[in-house]
Amino acid sequence: MEKLPIQVTVNGRTYTAEVEPRLLLVHFIRDVLDLTGTHIGCDTTSCGACTVIWNGRPVKSCTVFAVQADGTEILTVEGLEQDGQLHPVQEGFWEEHGLQCGFCTPGMMMTAVAFLQENPDPTEEEIRKAISGNLCRCTGYVNIVKAIQYAARKMRERTAAGVGGA
Ligand code: FES
Ligand code: FES
Repeated sequence: MEKLPIQVTVNGRTYTAEVEPRLLLVHFIRDVLDLTGTHIGCDTTSCGACTVIWNGRPVKSCTVFAVQADGTEILTVEGLEQDGQLHPVQEGFWEEHGLQCGFCTPGMMMTAVAFLQENPDPTEEEIRKAISGNLCRCTGYVNIVKAIQYAARKMRERTAAGVGGA
């Protein structure tokens, strides 16, 4: 099959590649870039394990083709940590035990990061609605919600202190 050239910036680094038009973005991220933190749970846009932030919006990367990402910017879970510092959302999942088997965690985190950028002071109901497209097969949503509440608090404190939000 004919391949098409693409150029994508992932976690601040620009990659060029030639890909088959049928290649899904999630397979490009995992198999071509070797960034395996982005998980595949269903391949059918149901579970959210493959969520990445694409041009600032959370997107299920099994839903789009790699060629559609040409010229765009993507953030994956590997890009959350900055200078050895966990992102507040990662810290929240750590502190509040927001993961069990951890399979859904990368997608949950990416959804949470994008959500908190839009809504820095959410209610519990708003958090639950925000992660409703991310399924946790271990079904422990209580601590996931607490983790996102933790992150929201932390990010607000950082903003108030003028530290910046990561
Ligand atoms: S693998 Fe993409 S939504 Fe489940
Ligand atoms: S922690 Fe196991 S699927 Fe969510």
